[in-house]
Amino acid sequence: MSRRAPCGLVRGLFAEVSEKVPQIYLDNAATSFPKPEAVYQAIEHCLRRVGASAGRGGYRLALKADEIVYRARSALARLFNVKDASRIVFTANATESLNLAIKGLVGPGDHVVTSSMEHNAVWRCLKTLERDQGVEPTIVPCAADGTLAPEAVEGALRPNTRLIVLTHASNVTGTIMPVAEVGEIARRHGIPFLVDAAQTAGVLPIDVERDRIDLLAFTGHKGLLGPFGTGGLYIREGFEPRPLKEGGTGSESRLPYQPQTLPERYEAGTLNVCGLAGLAAGVEFILNEGVEKIRAKEKSLTRHALEALADVEGAEIYGPKDAERQVGLISFNLAGVDGVEVAYVLDEVYGIMVRVGLHCAPLAHQTIGTLDRGTVRVSLGYFNTFADLDYLGEALQSINRQIRGGG
Ligand SMILES: Cc1ncc(COP(=O)(O)O)c(C=O)c1O
Repeated sequence: MSRRAPCGLVRGLFAEVSEKVPQIYLDNAATSFPKPEAVYQAIEHCLRRVGASAGRGGYRLALKADEIVYRARSALARLFNVKDASRIVFTANATESLNLAIKGLVGPGDHVVTSSMEHNAVWRCLKTLERDQGVEPTIVPCAADGTLAPEAVEGALRPNTRLIVLTHASNVTGTIMPVAEVGEIARRHGIPFLVDAAQTAGVLPIDVERDRIDLLAFTGHKGLLGPFGTGGLYIREGFEPRPLKEGGTGSESRLPYQPQTLPERYEAGTLNVCGLAGLAAGVEFILNEGVEKIRAKEKSLTRHALEALADVEGAEIYGPKDAERQVGLISFNLAGVDGVEVAYVLDEVYGIMVRVGLHCAPLAHQTIGTLDRGTVRVSLGYFNTFADLDYLGEALQSINRQIRGGG
């Protein structure tokens, strides 16, 4: 959201803003920051020392560019247990991947099942298809903490259901969805299963075989620790979404249509090679650390943050409130205070960066009862510390004291 001054209650209470506040980044669900050092180095090396386009030339630098793209694809294939790395196609972000999968697989008269916790990258896509092509989406309602009953998904299926699309974890409550169970239902009914892994790739173990995921949409700049402008879609063999775009692939140029081979079929246009260099470094960092270790740290940080927030008088916390059942993000509100003001004071006075509002997921807010006011969202990353969260707790306590006149 755009930056603006606090609009009421807290204005004036924090007139003395320190110039020397620490900078604590707690908005990793929007994009991860900082990145591992190797990511910055890989991007700089690519821009300065490689510079050539991938898939377009036979000279040495062009081959180096090819190698970078291959490295990124192979690292992702290892991370998601994809047997054939060419089934991972690169896009600009999860939004593009979701659009490619959804618009490429469904058409007029088709029915799609999804949940009430989806991001607008899924929801707006389905609403647009509903308006323009008569596609029928069914939104399976989730509980107030964002949890989804897999049986409800099965109950929503119809003879013309052509796709099930589900977020792996909500970007509003962090709630982890029963992806493996829904994958099993989808497989039993022969319906393609698309998972939005924007909030989970790199922080939760994902295995497309075990979880029976047919299409996996991911973004590079969040948990995968890469730069903006990178993302991708895994497409299981046997699934052939229509491409979103047509154009040059550097191969079979005489053909009037896209080559049928992957990944070229879905990668028209010059690839973001230096972005992919950074993404490869991010994913290699994750593979070296191990997703299990990253998840374990995220869980302990989440537990700590939940405890810190629980101590804040008047804090209403949404979602499962259980580190085992959510990823490292927590939404809350302070009773009687506009979330915009909380976020503003956290930033201006304490140097703590959080996000406030609807987080591009109005359906999820409707589900948890916060559509009218949104939430303040704290989202953790691998490089956060317990001390960051203690400081957040103290800052919120202090805001509370100021506002409620306690000191
Ligand atoms: C659950 C979810 N899906 C999709 C997206 C879209 O990701 P991107 O903006 O990288 O395309 C986001 C981003 O916040 C998200 O949280």
